[in-house]
Amino acid sequence: MKLWGGRFEGGPSEVFLRFSGSLHFDRRLFDADVRGTQAFARALERVGILSAGERLAISDALEKIRDQARSPAFFEGALDEDVHTLVIRKLKEQAGPVADKIHTGRSRNEQVSLDVRIWLREECDLVREKIAALERSLLDCANRHRDAVVPGYTHLRRAQAVLWPHYLLAHFEMLERDRERFLEARRRASFMPLGSGALAGSGFPFDREAIARDLGFENVTENSMDVSADRDFVLDFLYAASVTMLHLSRLAEDWIIFSTDEFSWLELGDEVTSGSSLMPQKKNPDSLELIRGKCGRVFGSLSSLMMTMKGLPLTYNRDMQEDKEPLFDAALQLEGSLEMARAVVDSAKLRPLPPMKAVEESWVVATDLAEALAREGTPFPKAHPIVGKLVLESVRSGKKPLDWKPEDLARVAPELTPDLARLLDPRVGMKSREILGGTGPESVARALVRAKERLERIQS
Ligand code: ARG
Repeated sequence: MKLWGGRFEGGPSEVFLRFSGSLHFDRRLFDADVRGTQAFARALERVGILSAGERLAISDALEKIRDQARSPAFFEGALDEDVHTLVIRKLKEQAGPVADKIHTGRSRNEQVSLDVRIWLREECDLVREKIAALERSLLDCANRHRDAVVPGYTHLRRAQAVLWPHYLLAHFEMLERDRERFLEARRRASFMPLGSGALAGSGFPFDREAIARDLGFENVTENSMDVSADRDFVLDFLYAASVTMLHLSRLAEDWIIFSTDEFSWLELGDEVTSGSSLMPQKKNPDSLELIRGKCGRVFGSLSSLMMTMKGLPLTYNRDMQEDKEPLFDAALQLEGSLEMARAVVDSAKLRPLPPMKAVEESWVVATDLAEALAREGTPFPKAHPIVGKLVLESVRSGKKPLDWKPEDLARVAPELTPDLARLLDPRVGMKSREILGGTGPESVARALVRAKERLERIQS
């Protein structure tokens, strides 16, 4: 079945049909299309195009079609141009001639916009739940190792000591922003486009606000030409998906490093690692590598649609059909990566000794010392080189911070009084960072409580 054809003398070629058909991917919009069509039937009844009986017949038939679609055979052999055409054909088969009225005053241009928006609202909700589940796992991991101290890095060089939960809360914050971005993406998708017609506005006096209420939309779109030309709501989702994948990729990268033999902080579970077909000793972090790899693929989806849209004259152009495969693929990869990241976090065990050793063998306490000097009156620009000298001496003589006897420190500089030696223990210095957002143990304990509350809030 075709929704057009009168002005043609010949039919479309087989190669054109094969090239342009979108049913094999836009069938994912089937449910949204049925719901949108049911709401549209009610709108047609309100403007007097459908009688109450006709509308009921259409609604019932659509309900039956929806049931039939649960079986994969439903789509088998379907040659329809797209999912919108398929639904109308099936409706006609089910309900008879009354179905001919359903596409009155409606264009596929607005229909495709509506369907994707309906689909996106639910997808944003699903993604937000999966992000929250990963956040919960990060908090559980923090609670399993509440007191573990690890080096924090800049330039991948040991910088300052932090609590392992503080490190995990950094990832939590990124994911909180991601969750917010998907809420925003949902809000932007939640504009009801029906009534726009092909591009100029429908020729039938639909109550657009009523259709919006019927379909649970918060708003209606303002301009019919914009509706036909717009895919911003898809781009918004792809951007939010890309940033989330970027965050997952950075977590993956960190944990790949942390689980190497060289670091040996983390033991990843057998259930999320794989072996080598040749080297019997290997236990590889493929799950994390794939998250990092899929990140590139999702970025590709975002740039693909940006490229598709950038030169299109207003309003609709068939190029825009190319929005769906990147969208569906990005959503699938994102969902999978969130689930995978969660499983890895759940499986991971932190060995507290190697990171603690890395802390104690390095000079991550240097800043604590310099700041203590500054608190006691030595201006910081003076305190900095004093501690620098202590580090240099230690490097030369092969001393670790805790090798220093308190009374020997003053030989490096008189300002380094014996009582400052307590700061050679990284846990002592960390206590000076009791500031909102800092790694002081009490601040971190409070941050963990707040993080949990923020997650619980979304459940209510
Ligand atoms: N399958 C099309 C798409 O996804 C639906 C809109 C078709 N409209 C048209 N004027 N050919 O974009």
